[in-house]
Parts: sequence; structure tokens; C-alpha cells
Amino acid sequence: MRGRDLLTLLEFKPPEVEHLLELSRDFKRRYYAGEIYIPIHRGKTAMLIFEKPSTRTRVSTSVAAYQLGMNVVVASSQELQLGRGETVADTARTLSRYVQVIAARVYRHEDLEELARYASVPVINLLSDKFHPLQSLADALTLWEHKGRLRGIRLAFLGDVGNNMAASLAVIGAKLGWEIRLIGPKRLWNERLASALAEDAAATGANIYFSEAVEDVKGVDAVYTDVWVSMGFEKEAEERVRLLSPYQVNRRVMELAGPQAVFLHCLPAHRGQEVTDEVIDGPQSVVWDQAENRLHTAKAALAALTP
Ligand code: CP
Ligand code: NVA
Repeated sequence: MRGRDLLTLLEFKPPEVEHLLELSRDFKRRYYAGEIYIPIHRGKTAMLIFEKPSTRTRVSTSVAAYQLGMNVVVASSQELQLGRGETVADTARTLSRYVQVIAARVYRHEDLEELARYASVPVINLLSDKFHPLQSLADALTLWEHKGRLRGIRLAFLGDVGNNMAASLAVIGAKLGWEIRLIGPKRLWNERLASALAEDAAATGANIYFSEAVEDVKGVDAVYTDVWVSMGFEKEAEERVRLLSPYQVNRRVMELAGPQAVFLHCLPAHRGQEVTDEVIDGPQSVVWDQAENRLHTAKAALAALTP
């Protein structure tokens, strides 16, 4: 995998996704055995670019790189000439002469694709409007730990089924043979995504479908939600809150799902909106393990992709 980009995870075959997760689990095991510093990329540099705010991604990816022996440069696009109109292509060409891997959080997924096209080093997606692949790796590791298996997970995603997180869960679900129920208003259904996943789903036995019925949470292994207003969609805030309010994950929804279901959220959470305090702080919630796993999965991605 050395030298490859990670833009959506669609570009990785199911055994490659499993390999990244096995590597993540191994890094986590070693971390708890006291082997935190594993400098396999000593002296190399990772450049992290942020067009939007970030807590988990920024810190976990930076710490992961340090723990692999790398140096890290973090900058917002406003701190780079990018913010004054230098092209993405020229930025990519320049940075490729200094660093061994570039990771970026962008508004437009197309900018990430352009960065990857012109960079001669691997480019990793730290969240775009379309996908959040590193988060989905952490989610899969969390479910592996809590459910004791990587394949055949049944997950219900409630709320903004058209957003980056729903898409990335569908992608990883297609790679790992999961059943993914994307539950939310029809207006937000992304039918094109389902067809992009058809080939992987046919190979792994995954079943990914949309529904408007909250009752479809019944019997799942995991209930997942994300904010109703993603970064960059603030103008639509009022309308989205109105549209998505029937899909709040509250105690009633977790009871419908059943006691076997764990609760996941990529965070940050808007408590009282897409999830209530009693669910996110309740016994079924595994969100802090999930947040921790951003570190171990970022380490695996950087370890595997950095040339
Ligand atoms: N889950 C996630 O990507 O969080 P941040 O926005 O804090 O990076
Ligand atoms: N869907 C959210 C995820 C944040 C980690 C957003 O894009 O803002």
C-alpha cells in the first residue's frame, strides 16, 4: 500500500481494508503493552492541511505521526498561500518536494482529488464534504472490539443519511459485508452511492439500503448518528433541524434497537439535537473508545501508506 492515496476507501479492496484494521489492532495492542513509540518512519514529515476546524482528526493524526517517528507540519489553508489564491495544483507540487505524505480536510472533495492528482506523495482525506474514511476505520475497529467480529455487523445510521459519515460507513460496510440501514428523510438519500458500492457488496454479501422508518433500528448491533448540520452546511441549518428532528437518537430509539446495540457517534455531538445526553452518556455508548481508535487507525494508515 506504500505510496497510495486514501481519498474514499472505495479504492481499496476488501482484504486491504481488513489489513488496515488488523494493523490498527496491532498498534493498539502494542500501545497498551507500553510500545507507544514505533519509529518506522523516522525523519519523514507529514503535512496536515485544515480548511475546517478539527479536534480529533488534527490531534490523533499528529500524535500518530509523532509516534511513528515523523515530524508534523499543521496549517490551515488560510495560513498557506492557498488562502490567497495559489492553486491546489501548485501547492501539491511544492509540498511534494518537502514532505512524504499530505493529509487534508477540505470543503470540496474535488480539491482533494486535485491535490492527489498533482502531488507526487500520497494524499489522505481527513474529511471532505463527501467522505470521512479515517473515521470509518476507527468505527470498524470499535465495532470489532465491542462485537467480537469484523464481518457481518448490522448497523443503523439515523439522521443525515446524505452526509460524509453515512457515505463512509456505507463504503466500509460494503468492504466488510455489513448490513447498513441508512434511516432518514428520502430527500437526503444518495442513491448513486448505493450503486457505486454494488460490486463490493456483491462480493462480500453486504446489504446497504435506505429507509425512512425509525422502527428499522430493531435488532441492529450498532446505532450511529452524526450532526444534522455538517461543516459547510450552516446556511441550511434551520431547514435541516426541522427535517431531521424525527430521527433523534434518544432512549426510545435505543430501546427499539435492543439491549445488544451499542451507540456510536463520530463526534463532535450536538447534545439535545441528534442525540440526547442519556444515550451518549449511557451504558450502550462506546463513543470514547471510538474517539480513541482514531489514534490507532491513523497510525495504521500513516504506517501503511507513507512511502
Ligand atoms: N470525528 C472527527 O473527525 O472529529 P473532528 O472534527 O474533531 O476532527
Ligand atoms: N458530518 C460532520 C462530521 C464531523 C466529524 C461534518 O462534516 O461536519
